[in-house]
Amino acid sequence: MTNSRISGFYNMKIEERRLKLEDAAEAASDGLLPFTTGGLSPEAADHMIENVIGLYSLPLGIALNFQVNGGDVLVPMTLEEPSVVAGASFMAKLARAGGGFTATTTDPLMIGQMQVINLTNLEEAKLKLYEHKAELLAEADSIDPILKKFGGGARELEVRVIDSSPIGGFLVVHLIYDVRDAIGANAVNTACERLAPRVEAITGGKVHLRILSNLADRRIARARCTIPVKELAFDDFSGEEVRDGIIGAYAFAAVDPYRAATHNKGIMNGVDAVVIATGNDWRAIEAGAHAYAARSGRYTSLSTWNKNLDGNLVGTLEMPMAVGIVGGATRVHPAAQAAVKLMGVKTASELAQIIVSVGLAQNMAALRALATEGIQRGHMSLHARQVAIAAGASGELIEKVAAQMVREKVVRIDRAEEILKEIQ
Ligand code: MEV
Repeated sequence: MTNSRISGFYNMKIEERRLKLEDAAEAASDGLLPFTTGGLSPEAADHMIENVIGLYSLPLGIALNFQVNGGDVLVPMTLEEPSVVAGASFMAKLARAGGGFTATTTDPLMIGQMQVINLTNLEEAKLKLYEHKAELLAEADSIDPILKKFGGGARELEVRVIDSSPIGGFLVVHLIYDVRDAIGANAVNTACERLAPRVEAITGGKVHLRILSNLADRRIARARCTIPVKELAFDDFSGEEVRDGIIGAYAFAAVDPYRAATHNKGIMNGVDAVVIATGNDWRAIEAGAHAYAARSGRYTSLSTWNKNLDGNLVGTLEMPMAVGIVGGATRVHPAAQAAVKLMGVKTASELAQIIVSVGLAQNMAALRALATEGIQRGHMSLHARQVAIAAGASGELIEKVAAQMVREKVVRIDRAEEILKEIQ
């Protein structure tokens, strides 16, 4: 069984962390190897995109303390921004005290769109399509035998009438496709392209665009957590003050799109980092998240924060999550495979549940900081650690030197060297 609580991880050297991770993870030790090299060779990269001349690296950190649906999980996060991994790990620790994260997903249903133009009677064409629905679904269903073998395939066909647009009226046909453990873009795009001639024959119109929608609102992941109010207290802040501060911060995002954009960016700090670590398409996830946040017509927060009857803090997050664990970059990138293995996920739904939990944790980390001491202090201590290391500190001395510089509000290499000499 994986144990996501590794004490002192933060202060360890990289090699020591790897060893601890091997002990803590269910994954076999050689499974972690791709992380040490970055995973991807230039030769493999050359098969992924065009005109390759090399590779580009990002840090990979492990978020600790996560418990999702009762099980511990070690979460790989790839990103360049300081404080994110520490923030997620700390909030996961607080959430753990309230039972961790509870997460669910809908079926992995993606939407493929066909735009049908050059129609003289939109309503008539719509009904004709519904009359042929069974036949169209059967054809779409037969396209991907592998997906079908694993229980996926075409599920539903819906027709929307667009009365007016810059080119006049047209129909939009939505093909709902269960893509199981794949991201699903290829399957859905292929199905739409394959159905197009039949849709044209049925309607007498012309199928213009045939492409999946990134507003994957049939493929939703949801997470919630309860933080016991006493766990929220720190320094001079009472648990109630922190709780109410977080709820007040959420209220701002709920009503104001300017704040909601930043609030949701904080959520995406966590979400994208895991999406990237697992080789998934973070632009698709970003597009889906923000479109979903605007689904009411006004852009708002993806998460909610309130208190329950016991006065504890309750957070929820609901968003589209079109991630896969088979195919695409996840299959060819050894580090992405290692990331999936480290988390022990067997389905795309399990991965989505972890990702949405990390998003919620990350959101809470930002709101807690913003509602109390501001975010700069956290950034400052990380910066101070980097300066302490540059001054020659190692092991426990890093934290000691950094903490003193933060206390003195002087974070400079000359001061770090002085402190180091004094301590030694
Ligand atoms: C910074 O990357 C993310 C935050 O701005 C999120 C937020 O304001 O909620 C701190």
